Amino acid sequence: MSNLITDAQRAGASVGLTFDRITIEGGHPLQGDVDVRGAKNLVTKAMVASLLSEGVSVLRDVPDISDVRVVRGLLEIHGVTVKEGPEPGELLLDAGNVRTAHMREIDAHAGSSRIPILFCGPLLHQLGEAFIPDLGGCRIGDRPINFHLDALRKFGAVVEKLPSGIRLSAPNGLHGAHVHLPYPSVGATEQTLLTAVRAEGVTELRNAAIEPEIMDLIAILQKMGAIISVEPNRVILIEGVKELKGYTHRALFDRNEAASWASAALATRGDVFVRGAVQEHMMTFLNVFRKVGGEFDVQESGIRFWHPGTALKPVVIETDVHPGFMTDWQQPLVVALTQADGVSTIHETVYENRFGFTEALQKMGADIRVHPHGFAAPNRRVPRRELEQAAVITGPTPLHGADIEVPDLRGGFSHLIAALTAEGTSTVRNVGIISRGYENFESKLQALGARFTVDV
Ligand code: EPU
Repeated sequence: MSNLITDAQRAGASVGLTFDRITIEGGHPLQGDVDVRGAKNLVTKAMVASLLSEGVSVLRDVPDISDVRVVRGLLEIHGVTVKEGPEPGELLLDAGNVRTAHMREIDAHAGSSRIPILFCGPLLHQLGEAFIPDLGGCRIGDRPINFHLDALRKFGAVVEKLPSGIRLSAPNGLHGAHVHLPYPSVGATEQTLLTAVRAEGVTELRNAAIEPEIMDLIAILQKMGAIISVEPNRVILIEGVKELKGYTHRALFDRNEAASWASAALATRGDVFVRGAVQEHMMTFLNVFRKVGGEFDVQESGIRFWHPGTALKPVVIETDVHPGFMTDWQQPLVVALTQADGVSTIHETVYENRFGFTEALQKMGADIRVHPHGFAAPNRRVPRRELEQAAVITGPTPLHGADIEVPDLRGGFSHLIAALTAEGTSTVRNVGIISRGYENFESKLQALGARFTVDV
């Protein structure tokens, strides 16, 4: 099988995937170079930050992924003009005419994204009100956005539940607040930052998330005129200012994508240079990669990752907030661990249900036991959280081709890796989800010598 993407399909990839199924002939090491651009989990928030000023913001290294298109659509319905700049991956965002959007429009553009919740602070500052559609299921219930709503209430926002979602208003404006997050949530930290920068007075945020993407968002806000200091022990102080201006910023690279390609190199016994990867933001991943036996070489323009040619070693990992091992890194790495010599354990402490992707791996021959309620183990760094799950992976197990279906973004990428690692042919369905966070993944696979065909 050769790697087959037609020109028409490649062109279509820039406006959303034109195929939903990929058939992969596994057993061939990935070899070559890939580029990673701006981080999905920074770029989308940086786009929302543009709403805080009436000027023009310039964001560089924006990847062509569907989550960016969702946020672009949401900004446009709120009156922001978004245009491509002269440099590839450059967006010009002009928030000079921000207006209220209709709940139905927001709902139609949001898809399954949680990003609308981050529009609250900026819209309350610009317009005095914000609508968040009911994104379905339990998402609008108290739990998944409770930290966000509690923080917004502390700033003086009034939250009103409507049958179709929630309406927020700020009859007395927004003022600085003491926000102590029950957990260092990435989204709730961003929510607090995006609200506090223009609230009157000082905000003290405790138990904040300090992921590199959050530090990059803080850098953007500082460029816009904000006064934010990051103190020890997860404390962030924000002195509100009256006005902010547009920013010019090159987005931090996507460390989740970089780690995904690194795991793909390891699982397929390959050798991949990830151009754009920066050591400083991947140190925890690099330590684990080395413990598993993977080789890497940090270079000025990126990091090369390769399989050592000898047996891989098992590891025990706990996912955690930064500077711990990211939850988004575990799914791709699990595939490599199926090839390690011994028993690996992954305690997932961030999400309650992030091992769904392992069912497909088991179908392909992996020996993975999922413990839905986690289990106690000596020398745990992270105390058990109520929502913890654990997976025990016993290797090495040869993987064989299968017909599998992508459950979510990171799990989806791990399915691609599994299909590339397996002997024989696999069909991976529902791959559209992968384009939410991986730019042109099919062209990158092609450049790395993967053998596959795509089905429209
Ligand atoms: N949580 C609550 N209540 C809240 C907010 C969060 O209980 O109000 C819980 C969540 O249910 C979860 C935990 O807190 O169990 C952590 O959630 P967090 O808010 O930190 O995550 P997030 O902001 O929703 C972002 C990334 C995720 C990444 C996590 C952790 C974006 C768009 N998403 O999510 O990325 O896994 O931080 O680093 O930035 C991905 O890229 O595939 C992805 C899922």
